[in-house]
Amino acid sequence: MPGLKAAEYPNEGSKLADVTSQSTKELSEVNPLLQPWKLGGFDLAHRLVYAPLTRCRAIDTIPQPAAAEYYSQRASGGLMINEATCVAVEAHGYPHVPGIYTEEQIEAWRPIVSAVHKKNTPFFLQLWHVGRVSHPDFQPDGKPPISSTTKRIPEGTVNTLKGAYKFADSAAPRAVDTAEIPGLVESYRIGARNSLTAGFDGVEIHGAHGYLIDQFLKDGINDRTDEYGGSIENRCKFCLEVVKAVVEEVGSERVGIRLSPFTEFMGAHDSDPYKLFDYLIPELNKFKLLYVHMVEPRMDKNMNIQEVDSQKVNLTGFRKAFKGTFIAAGGYDRENGMLAIETDHTDLVAYGRPYIANPDLPRRFELDAPLTPYDRNTFYTQDQVKGYTDYPFLDETKL
Ligand SMILES: Cc1cc2nc3c(=O)[nH]c(=O)nc-3n(C[C@H](O)[C@H](O)[C@H](O)COP(=O)(O)O)c2cc1C
Repeated sequence: MPGLKAAEYPNEGSKLADVTSQSTKELSEVNPLLQPWKLGGFDLAHRLVYAPLTRCRAIDTIPQPAAAEYYSQRASGGLMINEATCVAVEAHGYPHVPGIYTEEQIEAWRPIVSAVHKKNTPFFLQLWHVGRVSHPDFQPDGKPPISSTTKRIPEGTVNTLKGAYKFADSAAPRAVDTAEIPGLVESYRIGARNSLTAGFDGVEIHGAHGYLIDQFLKDGINDRTDEYGGSIENRCKFCLEVVKAVVEEVGSERVGIRLSPFTEFMGAHDSDPYKLFDYLIPELNKFKLLYVHMVEPRMDKNMNIQEVDSQKVNLTGFRKAFKGTFIAAGGYDRENGMLAIETDHTDLVAYGRPYIANPDLPRRFELDAPLTPYDRNTFYTQDQVKGYTDYPFLDETKL
């Protein structure tokens, strides 16, 4: 069955590593990516997930009407997760990112969610607090951002408000007092409640990519001496308290979590990711979460692909340990996505960049049609059309 070759993968060329830890089984004639899946109470039409993708099109934290068209274009009956959305004012660290903590934000999300629902597609909101990946520019009264630690991000790549995506030296964060943690947990709970009020079907807790939850999980960042630092149990406590609060608020059948055990984005290094996540996954099972969404080890940053030995470093153990639906993300194309389902590497495959540039991605995969390459230059611009809603649908008459 023909599929995309690594060299044809838009903008990544030959860097695309082998995907699954299992390898060369023949693909069946039926495209496994297009088989339905029961995600708890949600009947998914296929196995493709629209991955959470920050697009920086919000104005003053309010998502704009163009987002309704953008998400609706990409809605086709599979699970969709919206762009990471901040749970509090202090949670922000990037310009033009939306929130879910004011009435105005909730109201603005409503028509966007309805547009997706018109296509019979479940839509989850990704709950986000960036922690130390912020700058005093984003903080009330210009205070330092908060984290589990006072350590700066090693590479110093946070944004300021002085022009989008001008990187500045990262600000030294303030390590939160133990007594402040319940308030942080509460912000995720309220974010989850507000998401359902806005019409979302559920929430994905953003526990990946070096943001606040990851800043507690990983020992390369967390240097606390209270009960939220030190042992693996202690480092997982904040994450599990957030999960508990969110599950209590909206029900486990509406909660997923995103984790990136091996991704060292924003300094998120752990000395023993296997040990850490071998503890965390069974703890998550106790909450009967709907899904866990894991980023493949080949993603060294949130969007860069590195070569890894997939026999040695892979998600297989975590996938086996987790009791709900498993979603894998990062560097997937048609061919390796089919293989990942076929070999039971995962239940669902999340696509990020290919979905930005191909609103009709499942249909293109069905027809094995060519993909439109994505344009990195417009990932984070504020234009409400260019690089956002103007990627073409396939003209099937020209096939
Ligand atoms: C433009 C862009 C924005 C992203 N925003 C988010 C985000 O808001 N939340 C998140 O968890 N990951 C985010 N990611 C990571 C993607 O969800 C995904 O894991 C990554 O792009 C790798 O998948 P891909 O190879 O299919 O693109 C982003 C990636 C890109 C390229």
